[in-house]
Amino acid sequence: MRSLIQLLGATALFIAKTRADESIVHDGQLATPGLVIVNAPQPKTPLGGDTLHISLDVTANGHLPLNLEDDSPTRIHNISIFLSSYSLGNNFTVTNGTAGRDEASLGNILEQEPGSTVKHVNWVWPDCLVGDGGSDGDRGNYNISIRQYFRLNDEDHYTIYDLPIAVTNGIPEDDDRPSCESLMNELLSPEEIDAEDANKVGFFLDPDSDIELDYDELEDESSMLALSWVMLGAVFVLAIA
Ligand SMILES: *[C@@H]1O[C@H](CO)[C@@H](O)[C@H](O)[C@H]1NC(C)=O
Ligand SMILES: *[C@@H]1O[C@H](CO)[C@@H](O)[C@H](O)[C@H]1NC(C)=O
Ligand SMILES: *[C@@H]1O[C@H](CO)[C@@H](O)[C@H](O)[C@H]1NC(C)=O
Ligand SMILES: *[C@@H]1O[C@H](CO)[C@@H](O)[C@H](O)[C@H]1NC(C)=O
Repeated sequence: MRSLIQLLGATALFIAKTRADESIVHDGQLATPGLVIVNAPQPKTPLGGDTLHISLDVTANGHLPLNLEDDSPTRIHNISIFLSSYSLGNNFTVTNGTAGRDEASLGNILEQEPGSTVKHVNWVWPDCLVGDGGSDGDRGNYNISIRQYFRLNDEDHYTIYDLPIAVTNGIPEDDDRPSCESLMNELLSPEEIDAEDANKVGFFLDPDSDIELDYDELEDESSMLALSWVMLGAVFVLAIA
């Protein structure tokens, strides 16, 4: 099923921005340079507890159906998330987007909670982030770096959205915590990453942009069933008329 939807507004604010603190917040939601909308956490929040909780809307705030054809002109291919800090020299995998899931990093978050337009990431903090509050050792300022591979109106993109947080609340000790080493990746320089270039597509889901999203929805059994009920209803109405 091919549909065209329109997000109304002015194009004035449709400019490339690369940092979370510059992104538009509407009703507590953050637009990213991509199809993902971040419900939580908010930028610069002090975090702790047992897990890092991230809540992502993967339907462009209800403008995209959840199930799209593989060759849909607009769709999310995959999402990977890293927790990194230049000041602390760390770069941990939260999810690298692959189907496999081990104890430490999460699998393909698009496949979890099928039927739900919001994906709740709960990542067990690794051992070096344990602490009573405050910043010492590996605790302190991090970015939740959300990387999206997606197709927007027939063009493929890879974008980077860095959401700053502070790992400064208490994180309790637990033997089940993965080791930081097992999750560690090389830390690349901002020049090597070149987020500005990657993010040229801009924050196109800002409430003030007027982009149209062209997509092909996957026909599933439940929508076929709904359609047949509608047709049955139409036949019934015709029959009694
Ligand atoms: C977070 O990312 C921004 C770039 O998006 C960078 O300037 C900043 O240094 C990063 N913060 C940390 C703690 O690494
Ligand atoms: C993703 O993570 C899994 C589990 O840690 C690992 O086996 C796999 O090689 C990683 N894939 C990529 C593309 O980094
Ligand atoms: C994510 O999607 C891109 C584009 O389709 C693909 O090249 C890449 O291998 C995918 N990554 C993972 C981890 O599946
Ligand atoms: C963290 O590691 C991932 C996987 O290697 C990489 O794609 C990403 O750019 C790295 N982030 C930083 C800030 O170096």
